[in-house]
Amino acid sequence: MHDLTKEVWVNYTYEDWLAHFKENDKARLKLDFASEPELSEEQRKLIFKSIKAFQMGEHSDGIYLAELAEKFGKEYKEPDYPATMNLFIKEENFHSAYLAWYLDHHKEPKAKKNKLDKIFRDLRHDGKLITEIMVLVTAETIALSYYSALGNVADKIGSKDLRAICNQMLHDELPHIVFQTYTLSHFGDKRSIRSKRRFIMGCTTLAVYLMYGKLLRAGGYNYRKFRGDNFAYLNQSILMAAKMSQG
Ligand SMILES: [Fe+2]
Ligand SMILES: [Fe+2]
Repeated sequence: MHDLTKEVWVNYTYEDWLAHFKENDKARLKLDFASEPELSEEQRKLIFKSIKAFQMGEHSDGIYLAELAEKFGKEYKEPDYPATMNLFIKEENFHSAYLAWYLDHHKEPKAKKNKLDKIFRDLRHDGKLITEIMVLVTAETIALSYYSALGNVADKIGSKDLRAICNQMLHDELPHIVFQTYTLSHFGDKRSIRSKRRFIMGCTTLAVYLMYGKLLRAGGYNYRKFRGDNFAYLNQSILMAAKMSQG
């Protein structure tokens, strides 16, 4: 687990975030699969179900989010937010692409629809940026645990490329949590926001564990650890949001 409250990102403005995403955009992960092993049937069964779900979840056309970001930028006098959001969406689409390359290499078809993706998208789309960001940051927190577990499984099956993908995801997602937290801090430190965030985290943690528990357990995450880590990150985010909203 990382202590996000100690990172420099906690002091970032949207101008800094814009620079951060521009810098990330200069060097994206490259994969050649030169040493990628053949996977056994058992290994395929273990990893592909969840990889397909996350490949879909990481992808977004971003139109809806971009519209809300425009509105927020005007309302809160944050002119850099829309451009930052666009680069953030671009980064998420790279995440989806990395997983898609991995699936393609193993000639595994991509998912066309997925229950988890539908849950997250339904929860998000109520026309408010705050809801969108609350759900997004929950998914990203869960992703931290998931990619940690998947990275451990990648080591076990000897896939350097899958390990590299997981490392890249963790590298990118950790600051994302702080970025979304900064946006949430604009809405104030309210009890209603905190309890809604805890409720969404509780439900989605359980749903993800029920669907992908096999992979999580293989990567060292039983339910106790999975839930514990997710809520520990949520508590860090709540703490950061409170501090940020004070100024
Ligand atoms: Fe992502
Ligand atoms: Fe993210």
